[in-house]
Order: sequence, then C-alpha cells, then structure tokens
Amino acid sequence: MIALKTASELELIEENAKLLADILVELALAARPGVTTGELDRLADRLIRAGGARPAFKGYQGYPATLCASVNEEIVHGIPSDRRVLAPGDVLSLDLGLVRRGYYADAAVTVGIGEVTPVAAQLMDVAQGALREGVKRVKIGARLSDISHAIGAYVRRRGFFVVREFVGHGIGRQLHEDPQIPNFGPPGRGPRLREGMVICLEPMVKTDDLPVRILADGWTAVTGSGGPAAHYEEMVAVLPEGPKVLTGWIWEEIWRKRK
Ligand code: MF3
Ligand code: CO
Repeated sequence: MIALKTASELELIEENAKLLADILVELALAARPGVTTGELDRLADRLIRAGGARPAFKGYQGYPATLCASVNEEIVHGIPSDRRVLAPGDVLSLDLGLVRRGYYADAAVTVGIGEVTPVAAQLMDVAQGALREGVKRVKIGARLSDISHAIGAYVRRRGFFVVREFVGHGIGRQLHEDPQIPNFGPPGRGPRLREGMVICLEPMVKTDDLPVRILADGWTAVTGSGGPAAHYEEMVAVLPEGPKVLTGWIWEEIWRKRK
C-alpha cells in the first residue's frame, strides 16, 4: 500500500527533510583528513537531537549507529568507527535518517576527501546525474519503473553500473514504505505516481557489475571488485507542479559551502 500524504503531512516531512539536509551538509564539511567516521557519527547524533529529532537508523533491524559512513569500496551501511581515519583520496558516503513528530527523513551524499582519483570523481558525477534523471521522471501519472529505467540507463550509457541489491523507497510514518524503487529495469511498469507520494531515490553506482558482498559485521556492503562506489539519496514529493526535492539537492549545498 502506497501512503499518500496530506498537505499538512507534507509540510512536516519537508521540515524534517530540511533539518536532515542541513545536518548532512555539516557532516560533509566536517569530513576532512584525520577525522574518524566515529567522530562524524557522534556529531550526527548531537545535531539530530539538537534539532528535536531522533536517529532513525540506530536500532533499525539492529543497526548499531546513527550514521552510515561508507568509505571507498564500501557502498552503503558502513558502520562508523573511531579506528576509521579519513585520508586524502577517500570517497565517503554519508547516509543518515531521523524521525521527528512521527515522520521520517532519509538522505545520503558522497564526498571526496581532498583530491580523489579521476575515476572516483566521474563516479560521483554520474551518480548525481542519475539521481537528477530519476527526479525528472517524477510526475503524476508516470509509471514507477520510468524512474528506475531513467536512472539505470543513464549510468549504463556512461560505462558504470548500478547496485541491484538495494532500492529506493517510499517514506513517511515509516523509514521504508512502499513502493520499492530499483535503480534499473524496463520503463512502463509498476504503479502510477500519484499526488502526495513521497519517495527516496537513491542510486548507488560502481565500476563493476559483480554481486555486492556483505562484510562479517553483517552490515557493510562492499563492491565485488574492491573498486569505489558513490551513493546519493534525496526525498522527492509528487505534486501537480512536478517533483519537489524536499531535501533540496544536498551535494550542491555542500559545494557552495566548501568554497
Ligand atoms: N539509508 C538506508 C536506506 O536508504 C537505510 C539504512 S539501513 C540502517 O534505506 F540499518 F542503517 F538503518
Ligand atoms: Co533510503
């Protein structure tokens, strides 16, 4: 069942999405060589609580932290650690969720630490472009898999690969609501988009087409080849005037602030 949100629910979800986006920007600016992902986790926790919210991931199916911090070949669900010291050239994905007044927010960005390799830079660029392509397909009456197809085709045309094991999703009173939104597949399938849907689009892009592996910690998903991955996630509302990115293009805000 896909929950449609009322105008007042959308208002609240947007407030939460903005709070989350601001926190992700802060985290991205704090992510520098010498900083540990454990420190970023504590900063995330502090900022979420200062905003009157609670972490959404901590305890979710037993997940042990507030933040998912995934470095280089880690794609998603990297567990923050005081032993993980960020170094120049690292590709860091920050994925964070919060809940406030009964509604969830969930978003992710990938940033380079110092100078990254040309391939890593391209990977981030392609993942961002893929997310934009997906958002462009968010229209009342469009079919869900039009989004999936747009994302997948964009990535394939640029010589990279999407992760197939994880999907985007609806969000609202729960962190993960229907529908599931794969990042590949043929267009013209699945339910039609309706006014008041709120979805998280989250392409994960990598350099190989091998199956994802899960590390012995039970969480960290890594690429089969050990090559890098990039992940971006934004919350999008389906409205008569078109898609509304409730989280507001987080990586662009990071660029503006980094200068
Ligand atoms: N951000 C992830 C998603 O988009 C959820 C993280 S799973 C958790 O679905 F266990 F870390 F919470
Ligand atoms: Co998500």
